[in-house]
Amino acid sequence: MEASLLFDGSAASASNGCSRPGSQAGHSGAAGRTSRGPWEAAHDGRNQPSGARFHRCNVTAVTRARIVVDRDFTLGEVPRRIFGSFVEHMGRCVYTGVFEPGHPAADEEGFRTDVLDLTREMGISVVRYPGGNFVSGYRWEDGVGPVAERPRRLDGAWHTVETNAFGLHEFMRWASKAGVEPMEAINLGTRGVEAARELVEYANHPGGTALSDRRIANGAKDPFGIKLWCLGNEMDGPWQIGHKTADEYGRLAQEAAKAMRYVDRDLELVVCGSSGSLMPTFGAWEQTVLGHAYDEVDYVSMHAYYEESDGDHASFLASAVDMDHFIESVVATIDAVGAARKSRKRINISFDEWNVWYQKREGADSPSQVGTSGWVEHPRLIEDVYTVTDAVVVGTFLNSLLRHGDRVTIANQAQLVNIIAPILTEPGGPAWRQSIFWPFARTSALAQGEILRLHVESDLAPTQRYGDAPLVDVSGTYDAESGRVALFLANRSLEGPADVEVDLRGLRVGDVVGAEVLTIPEGGDRHSVSTADDQRVGLRALEDVTVEGERRDVVRLRLPALSWSAVQLGVTVT
Ligand code: AHR
Repeated sequence: MEASLLFDGSAASASNGCSRPGSQAGHSGAAGRTSRGPWEAAHDGRNQPSGARFHRCNVTAVTRARIVVDRDFTLGEVPRRIFGSFVEHMGRCVYTGVFEPGHPAADEEGFRTDVLDLTREMGISVVRYPGGNFVSGYRWEDGVGPVAERPRRLDGAWHTVETNAFGLHEFMRWASKAGVEPMEAINLGTRGVEAARELVEYANHPGGTALSDRRIANGAKDPFGIKLWCLGNEMDGPWQIGHKTADEYGRLAQEAAKAMRYVDRDLELVVCGSSGSLMPTFGAWEQTVLGHAYDEVDYVSMHAYYEESDGDHASFLASAVDMDHFIESVVATIDAVGAARKSRKRINISFDEWNVWYQKREGADSPSQVGTSGWVEHPRLIEDVYTVTDAVVVGTFLNSLLRHGDRVTIANQAQLVNIIAPILTEPGGPAWRQSIFWPFARTSALAQGEILRLHVESDLAPTQRYGDAPLVDVSGTYDAESGRVALFLANRSLEGPADVEVDLRGLRVGDVVGAEVLTIPEGGDRHSVSTADDQRVGLRALEDVTVEGERRDVVRLRLPALSWSAVQLGVTVT
């Protein structure tokens, strides 16, 4: 089927099962799935819908898309905090991930400098710590003071022995070396208001009180000045230690927030939303929690993980359609609560866990194996190895975050190292970039200035889970200061390239500053991965970029099948 028919005519669409071009896809409902391990069973149904009968679009050739860029149509400044990450005391994220005393690349404090370098290269702005499920059973006091005196504890969330060799002070020093803002989570599972307010006093009060003087005695003369705080983690999830009903949690979060602010007025507080859009309490949870805590909090959290299952790659590739819908649902819920309270306060979203995660994958490190090998220190857990397909999907997640950058102002890819991560390490060995490293690093580097409100028309293809989904997914920014437009484009089609026409309004293209693409490597396939020795899934030049039009206001791009691209245009205002 020729692309022009797909793009131009509904008759063609009807005859080959493809849909007409559009910019928004439908959303189908949820269904359960078979469960296995105990932890995994408890997570069932967070983001794993299955729905309508599978109905493939017969796209065999070229996808077509058109994008209109108008310099006056913007959404606001790129919120830098959306390029966040997450370090949890889980598996090998901390131990042998960011921290490995004795490693050849470790600095004098035991921080792996190879991981620090890659963290900086990714352009990470903020890092959430110390969990995750881990935080709901954590005593922050265990992680401060002389290391030799710190207690070894059982971590029930991941069935692991926690040595506490790494704690708050180590994290703060690591964060400073990495150049990232800390985002600290408090334990609202087994602990409550007192431990929360004491942690804020320990961390942020200048001195002259027992807790702040203890920090100073422990080596940190200056207050840490941590601004961003998470009020617990996934408290709606039955798997969470100290899981609560929405009313119980809403009240606790409200009181913890109040007490924390009594110590430090300048905190920014994130209240737990749902652990996934398919949680049975999703929506009602947010409404009830905000009913209690609206006046005390600044952000509602969102978490979402996606994976390819049952060979349904079309739905997987369209996962960002679901992410868009999820974000818009939470924004609507927040605003409905605000409107009913006649409040003028605006609460934004902290999308503080998102990624591709193969929760159904079976292996020695899979979720179903948690707890099966006894109590050990930092076991290998969920060390997913990411493919080209995963990288394209991650690129579209970043597009979704940028498209909603007026309301999603914090986001953290979960996690940074080893645990479902863009960076992998071997103990005593190398650190390397996974495929998903690239869209994150390049989007963080190039998304500057204002987020563009793009008009996008793309061929659609049907998906089992999300209805008709655009084959070309895009986001963009315009930086008036540097005179640069950056476009981030994914071609979700496995069948062929996408021809994209970019029409610029109010701008003239001087030159194509850069055009790079991540796609299937030579001799590989969509499952190709990078390893420590072979970084075959990476960026190369995107060749097919031309500037046209008398006014140099049309750019044509050809995106390879299954690809993620970043294109930077030097522009002047007309
Ligand atoms: O990121 C892995 C885990 O996923 C986190 O600990 C938890 O918050 C979520 O369920």
